[in-house]
Amino acid sequence: MALVDKLRIVQRAAATGENVQPMRRGDTAPALIAVERVGKRFAARGGAEAFSALDDVSMQIRQGEFVSILGPSGCGKSTLLRMVAGLVPCDDGRILLGAEPITAPVPDIGVVFQTSNMLPWLTVGDNIRLGAKLRNLPRAHVEKRLPALLDTLGLTAFADRYPHELSGGMRQRAAIGQILLLEPRVMLMDEPFGALDALTRDRLNVELLRIWQQSTLTVLLVTHSIHEAVFLSDRVLVMSERPGRVIHDVRIDLPRPRQPDQVKSDPLYGHYVAELSRLMGVF
Ligand SMILES: Nc1ncnc2c1ncn2[C@@H]1O[C@H](COP(=O)(O)OP(=O)(O)OP(=O)(O)O)[C@@H](O)[C@H]1O
Ligand SMILES: [Mg+2]
Repeated sequence: MALVDKLRIVQRAAATGENVQPMRRGDTAPALIAVERVGKRFAARGGAEAFSALDDVSMQIRQGEFVSILGPSGCGKSTLLRMVAGLVPCDDGRILLGAEPITAPVPDIGVVFQTSNMLPWLTVGDNIRLGAKLRNLPRAHVEKRLPALLDTLGLTAFADRYPHELSGGMRQRAAIGQILLLEPRVMLMDEPFGALDALTRDRLNVELLRIWQQSTLTVLLVTHSIHEAVFLSDRVLVMSERPGRVIHDVRIDLPRPRQPDQVKSDPLYGHYVAELSRLMGVF
């Protein structure tokens, strides 16, 4: 099918609400996370006036959706993610998980950061178990789930190794494992693959999609990679320069399940990458 025809179908579907693409998980689900007119200010150094890091940010993430955030460096993406995680309070507005305002970290929301923070004196398996232990999750339940999780993450052979024996990609997989073992409803990811080489990053993207597809997980991912955002997401939110706010909300109507070779040779993929590059001011 020609690209213009595909785009026409997508546009018609968006206009009429008609569902011509394969069903997207988030489409009919209620909002799981609602960011409502959120603002954040930080004190500047040397007694200068506080500056606004985020201003009037609103977004809704539906249950089961995969949403990415793109934006210039310093526009407040990490700050926003920390606020959704309940690690940083809002100065204005509020963030809801279901009907409940988020004011502190909650078990339903897990966070994966750019570099994993595993304890060097614990094995990979024990590092993955750590969060569950700290939360006092029933040990039998944890031990029952762990082998399948290690298998999914390709870490079975490394469970008894120590973090320094792992590659960067393995460490990030372990960090994802730490969170998944806690069975959160939402996984927040702040440039989780930013420090990895391109090949490892592509592989982990495929693994992440597989894990997401097999679960009911809702993912909110911050990334600097337009390609990664398009390949993974149901929607890509674009933020402005500081003070950050959401200036574009781009729906990615690529069929699922997504295989890298199929997706990347689909003209629609190129269309979304070009569209987002334009919106980001890349060209
Ligand atoms: N705890 C803090 N105290 C003071 N200023 C902060 C604090 N945290 C973040 N900032 C400032 O808020 C702004 C947004 O920072 P943030 O880390 O959220 O940006 P970002 O979009 O994640 O950037 P990057 O893409 O480079 O990771 C920056 O100007 C940063 O210096
Ligand atoms: Mg950041």
